[in-house]
Amino acid sequence: MEGRTVSASTVQFVRTMTQLDANLAGNVHGGVIMREVDSAAGTAAVRHAGRLCVTASIDELSFHEPVFVGDILIVSASINDVGRSSLEVGVKVEAEPWRGGERRHTTTAYLVMVALDDEGHPVEVPPLILETEEERRRQEQARLRRQIRNERRVRLGG
Ligand SMILES: CC(C)(COP(=O)(O)OP(=O)(O)OC[C@H]1O[C@@H](n2cnc3c(N)ncnc32)[C@H](O)[C@@H]1OP(=O)(O)O)[C@@H](O)C(=O)NCCC(=O)NCCS
Repeated sequence: MEGRTVSASTVQFVRTMTQLDANLAGNVHGGVIMREVDSAAGTAAVRHAGRLCVTASIDELSFHEPVFVGDILIVSASINDVGRSSLEVGVKVEAEPWRGGERRHTTTAYLVMVALDDEGHPVEVPPLILETEEERRRQEQARLRRQIRNERRVRLGG
């Protein structure tokens, strides 16, 4: 199967946060950000695999800083590594006030997506072609996370 570059599937979603996304104090709900993260990761995975992809697990999702009503949310997702049928997607969320101002890195997440065939079974995905040092570093870290996930599964079961 022919490989695909990271840049070919990288996506960026941009959306302004409104009152509908937030609590009474104007803080955007974590669930709203999680939905954007999942959606961007799914889109990057589908673009790489050329197949329907489902979320198998969320390996890490950290909220470094709050997001407020009126912030413009910038969600960037790219493929860090691929297995046979799984893909690890790294997602970075940034926010900036709509009136202008500093852009903050608010959230980091790593999701494992699995590509499915037409019968709903895991199916092979194209190899990942790395073009930059940064992409190589991300792949190394993704492999470490996969190893830790497997060790955790063996030790804790499930
Ligand atoms: C994800 C799913 C397809 C995996 O099915 P499965 O029968 O366990 O598949 P397999 O054991 O053959 O594993 C397939 C791949 O998924 C990976 N995988 C399976 N479960 C995983 C998990 N919990 N976390 C990370 N990776 C996982 C395996 O490591 C394997 O990767 P590889 O092919 O790159 O080596 C299945 O569990 C499922 O359909 N889950 C529900 C998904 C869903 O509804 N998501 C929310 C809405 S999109």
